[in-house]
Amino acid sequence: MPRQDTHAKIAEHVQRLGERYPPIPLSSVDRTINDPAAVKARFGHTIDYLARVELEVDRNVLELLVLIPDVDDTNKTFYSDVWQPQEIQHGLILDRLQHDLGRPATEPHLDVSFRVKVLGALTQFKPVQDVAKLLYFLTGASTERQAVLAYNLINDGMVEMGETAISQTILNPIKQQEPGHFAFYQMSATQMIQSKALRPWQLFLARVLREKSYGLVGTNAMKRYKTDMGGVALDLGLDRDLEGYAREIGRVESRLLWAHKQGMQFPPYIFGALQESIELYQSRVSTA
Ligand SMILES: [Fe+2]
Ligand SMILES: [Fe+2]
Repeated sequence: MPRQDTHAKIAEHVQRLGERYPPIPLSSVDRTINDPAAVKARFGHTIDYLARVELEVDRNVLELLVLIPDVDDTNKTFYSDVWQPQEIQHGLILDRLQHDLGRPATEPHLDVSFRVKVLGALTQFKPVQDVAKLLYFLTGASTERQAVLAYNLINDGMVEMGETAISQTILNPIKQQEPGHFAFYQMSATQMIQSKALRPWQLFLARVLREKSYGLVGTNAMKRYKTDMGGVALDLGLDRDLEGYAREIGRVESRLLWAHKQGMQFPPYIFGALQESIELYQSRVSTA
């Protein structure tokens, strides 16, 4: 597809998301919880984790501006009119749910890491900025896919437990917004590859950096969050088919970065990150 058309398609997608999905108001939530103890036991840890990740959207926006100082209008509209306003409401709604469940308040991690700042300094050099941009889109695609799957699984659990208010007024509305975020990042990354915006050395650099820096959603390259993520993976039952899950969340980058590796089911670093998180969590539990 010609470059112009794809750009227009992405811009239209962003506009449609903004029109179709206004941020979810706190007042639209029915706070009825039938069995708080049961919800807390089954999903308390996962809700804590997701509330934090959603509230960290403000740091994600700062990172975007550090990594891609020349951000274009479509990206600007996406993060300022669609993504940030939607995610922050997800965070506030889940944070209040945590409170209603008697869990301690979330403490989002809002400092831009040294690593991002270093990469940011390098992106003064435009070809490196293009590499950072591709990585940013791939990160978005993988993390949003994780969000879609997590909310689906929690919602199934809530329906099973008869928590209709949580399902219908919290999870369903959130669940409707995440796939549009995923689609934005997927389309943007695909556009960069298909238009051949990157030269072979840039793609090589992108692969090396991706292998070295891949992180599951919300882990922020920090051990305690990686460990927490292991607990989320177990609570959601991801360990029952970890390879299938790695395939799901790695599909976009398998296709765009690793197509030349015949027979690669999923990038090994994704599977490795999942295993690492689960092992960290298991050793935390066993030493507690
Ligand atoms: Fe979200
Ligand atoms: Fe999202």
